[in-house]
Amino acid sequence: MININNPNELLRSLKSLSGPFPSFDVNLLPETPGKLFLQWLNLAIENGVKEPHAMTLSTVDADGYPDARVLILKNVVNDAFYFASGFKSRKGQQLKRNPQAAITFYWPMLGRQIRLRGTVEDMGDEAGAADFLQRSEEARAVALTGNQSRELVREEELEDSLAKQRERISHDPNITTLNWRLYAVNVKEAEFWQGDTHRKHIRVQYYWSEGQWKHRKLWP
Ligand SMILES: Cc1cc2nc3c(=O)[nH]c(=O)nc-3n(C[C@H](O)[C@H](O)[C@H](O)COP(=O)(O)O)c2cc1C
Repeated sequence: MININNPNELLRSLKSLSGPFPSFDVNLLPETPGKLFLQWLNLAIENGVKEPHAMTLSTVDADGYPDARVLILKNVVNDAFYFASGFKSRKGQQLKRNPQAAITFYWPMLGRQIRLRGTVEDMGDEAGAADFLQRSEEARAVALTGNQSRELVREEELEDSLAKQRERISHDPNITTLNWRLYAVNVKEAEFWQGDTHRKHIRVQYYWSEGQWKHRKLWP
């Protein structure tokens, strides 16, 4: 029986990093973090990791307070990691002011964490529209409302707006909105963390220096 009245005891009873985990050969590192990410992603997919493309995107607000939420990774091109979202959303506004972000992946089944930091670039109207048109009809209807992150006062407002957007889509299946943006995080620093059941975790950090990628190991 779980004792929710004693969260400390409850939390201490939970296991973390119990393995078994895959090996991580630091003598066989590709030259770039983008390449290592794709190798790790492949292994995650082969091992049946659920939603390995779900990532935490961290941004900073106007007062310097960090903010974070989960998004879907849309593409990786060299060392640029893509995601899509509404410009008017909270994150969209934060990125407009301060286009710096961090991305974190955690795949518990493999004991692997990936941390990426970089500068965010809006990929432009065409790229945003192309991403929008690849989304499901339901997802497009929600995005067309353009209200992400605003206060929802009455449930009916959402239902009414969705009905209107579905109607717009049925009249014009190629309708898009400038509010939907495709962003790329151009990574400047990356860390690949392989958990170890004996806590001798392996950490490899890639950093951009003098026009090229370098890497080093970090203490666990
Ligand atoms: C698994 C998962 C995937 C998500 N994917 C996206 C996404 O690709 N784009 C997006 O705008 N929101 C996505 N969300 C919702 C965001 O976490 C968030 O609630 C929303 O973008 C509003 O964030 P903001 O208020 O910080 O702008 C996803 C949430 C989860 C849990």
